[in-house]
Amino acid sequence: MSFPKGFVWGAASAAYQLEGAVYEDGKGFSVWDKFVRQPGKIWNGQTGEVACDHYHRYQEDVNLMRQIGFTGYRCSISWPRILPSGTGKINAGGLAFYDRLVDALLEARIVPYITLFHWDYPYELFIRGGWLNPDSPDWFAEYAKIVVEHLSDRVSHWFTLNEPQCFVGLGHLDGQHAPGLKLDISQFLQVGHNALLAHGKAVQAIRANSKTPARIGYAPQGNATIPFTLKPEDVEAARRDTFAVTQRNTWNNAWWIDPVCLGHYPEDGLRVFGDSMPEFPESDLDIIHQPLDFLGLNTYFGKYVKASPNGPEEVSLRPGHPITAFDWPVLPEVLYWTPRFFYERYQLPLIFAENGMSNVDWISVDGKVHDAQRVDYLTLYLRQLQRAVNDGFKVEGYFHWSVMDNFEWSFGFRERFGLIYVDFESQKRLLKDSALWYKEIIATNGACL
Ligand code: FCB
Repeated sequence: MSFPKGFVWGAASAAYQLEGAVYEDGKGFSVWDKFVRQPGKIWNGQTGEVACDHYHRYQEDVNLMRQIGFTGYRCSISWPRILPSGTGKINAGGLAFYDRLVDALLEARIVPYITLFHWDYPYELFIRGGWLNPDSPDWFAEYAKIVVEHLSDRVSHWFTLNEPQCFVGLGHLDGQHAPGLKLDISQFLQVGHNALLAHGKAVQAIRANSKTPARIGYAPQGNATIPFTLKPEDVEAARRDTFAVTQRNTWNNAWWIDPVCLGHYPEDGLRVFGDSMPEFPESDLDIIHQPLDFLGLNTYFGKYVKASPNGPEEVSLRPGHPITAFDWPVLPEVLYWTPRFFYERYQLPLIFAENGMSNVDWISVDGKVHDAQRVDYLTLYLRQLQRAVNDGFKVEGYFHWSVMDNFEWSFGFRERFGLIYVDFESQKRLLKDSALWYKEIIATNGACL
């Protein structure tokens, strides 16, 4: 059985992870440009200064995407390329790069899905307090307006923020990502609240300034808990666990999605965070809760639970359960239960904005990259997505993470997530076996699965 007509097939990327050219054409610094230079932060001291050199090789890369048959491509814009100081003066050189990229995509009949923020926050704004500054939501809305005014004659699909769980939590609570802060819980929650407000204000800015009818979404992490059996009580336990907020940390779904899609923070989360919760006017929630056209979800993880008298109980994986190079368990069913639970709760069409695996890939003696695990991963995960679509849960598209091997944040170039292999010394690209299999999947709209 194939996917619905018009289903969008592609892959995703983020500016800092593949563009390189971090000092070119008037770009300002981002918090990542600074963070990677601090000793001990990144695996083997690597940086994204060159990365895949996509800034110069975008045309070759778009040609490869066309060869695979992408109908969409999700990429992000580097905020400090457009506004070197984060606000104020616009850098024409930065806008010109995204003009070239968007034009190349359209020429290849690939629909651009633009993420406005995938973590490369302007360093100058960080100096002014960053996401803790009460003006930070307006700074983001100003940037969104500029990008939309410039590109919306050709771009109509937008994601506001990528994974607040990570840039708020890993960046401001755990200190593992830029800007490397370890704030207390109440400041962490303030950063989160400002980021959600920034999302809402950006949606308003896009709607008000788009020259074509805009379709707007958001791209948090969204990972369902999987019921251990299909017994109704296990399914209910998994549903409850999927949206529960039980820990004073960043790793949950509902804290980051309920305000955006339902207009309120989840009750259990408010109890867990207690008096660490910042005060804010009720009207903030109206700003955060803007009508969206789709909900993007980045889905990588999962776990099993079953019902028990004390609530959902985790079931451990069997010894020897397959894991990826990143030690992430392979759980294809997460692409069935995520669309099911998230569509039921939020009633918005879904786009899988990221899903994929890192693998120990290299060029074999025959000159090819045989990533059999990723070929299998695609098959198993997409069969589950197909099952969800057949059951009536609305899904509009799938973006594999990632289009090509790239700079994996604090893990540097250790993790290869791409459909396209990149030799980071020569910058040669090579389609992996998975890219060829994905081409077949796209060409048959999933019927070959
Ligand atoms: C996600 C990020 C993306 C990439 C993948 C592996 O959390 O959004 O940039 O790092 O994980």
